[in-house]
Amino acid sequence: MKKILVIKGDGIGPEVTEAAIKVLNALNFNAKYEEAYAGFACHEKTGVPVPEETIEMAKKSDAILFGAVTTPSKDMKAKSAILSLRQNLDLFANIRPARTYKGLGRYGDENVDILIVRENTECLYSGIGEMDEKLGIAINQRIISKKATERIANAAARFANGKITITHKANVVKPSDVLFLSVASETLKKLGKEFDSEIVDALAMKLVVNPAKYRTILAPNLYGDILSDLVAGIAGSIGLCPSANIGEKIGLFEPVHGSAPDIAGKGIANPCGAILSAALMLDFLGEKEGANKVRLAVESVIVGRKSLTPDLGGKSKTNEMLNSIIQEMEVL
Ligand code: NAD
Ligand code: IPM
Ligand code: MN
Repeated sequence: MKKILVIKGDGIGPEVTEAAIKVLNALNFNAKYEEAYAGFACHEKTGVPVPEETIEMAKKSDAILFGAVTTPSKDMKAKSAILSLRQNLDLFANIRPARTYKGLGRYGDENVDILIVRENTECLYSGIGEMDEKLGIAINQRIISKKATERIANAAARFANGKITITHKANVVKPSDVLFLSVASETLKKLGKEFDSEIVDALAMKLVVNPAKYRTILAPNLYGDILSDLVAGIAGSIGLCPSANIGEKIGLFEPVHGSAPDIAGKGIANPCGAILSAALMLDFLGEKEGANKVRLAVESVIVGRKSLTPDLGGKSKTNEMLNSIIQEMEVL
């Protein structure tokens, strides 16, 4: 039996995480669920966004199912709970698949299937910075190391979905992106992987114009963050996109979206990002058959327009879409 730690978080986090657990239950997935707390509400209650106990429980689990958390932008001291978890658990690879579904949205008839492999521990996420109020200057440190770049390039090679495109801004952001590009290229070359590279601004444009051309994108942390929302837009909605944060032993699985305060509590959040994250968790735990069943059921509901939440142009509630997915799983 697998030990799954559930961290529902804030806003729509609990709504979509509960939907994902119902899907796992419908599969009769053999698991023991424990709940731990993190995020904004947790901060208000306990004074910290991620209590020590949550980290300890996470380290003892086989996998973590995570919803979403709120981090206020203006509060200089507020640290994102999800970043603390990624860093504390050394979840160095952020794997973000995005695909289109037939008939859905602007790109619905194109065969887009992109995997973003995002370095998850450094870059402008180093957390090192300072502000000189008098001078009106703020500085952040961007860290890129050979070790972390080799590690993420190896992960890209392991998870690759066809040709790998390394993205960077080495023409300007010297020396850190020069290091990222050269170490990532050397690593992929040694591994005999097919790869090329694109400067990140041009890549953003080309993704919008011709997304079907791209398969796997290997990116430093911040570019990977931005591009994963861009490809979520191409997929049709950020509510559809799942992710896996993978470390040496543990994995944390969460939708790409945030706590969506604008729709929280309305019962209309798209549960697919969280449900497909649970499928990535099943892959990680070796339950490929269950994972594929979940993906097929989601696809069938979307393509058959059986039940779509408003972000996909439908009128269904979260629970209605969830129930359609479960019904579909029963007939597969
Ligand atoms: P967001 O992803 O929460 O929302 C962006 C837009 O997408 C909103 O219009 C929202 O309604 C919509 N959306 C998101 N998920 C959806 C879903 N499942 N179904 C339907 N529509 C959905 O991003 P934001 O508004 O920039 O951030 C809100 C908060 O979430 C911020 O505090 C931010 O820091 C946090 N955030 C957390 C995570 C995380 O926990 N991993 C990720 C991104 C943002
Ligand atoms: C994401 C989010 C996070 C990030 C924030 C909320 C810290 O945008 O998971 O994509 O920047 O990684
Ligand atoms: Mn993001």
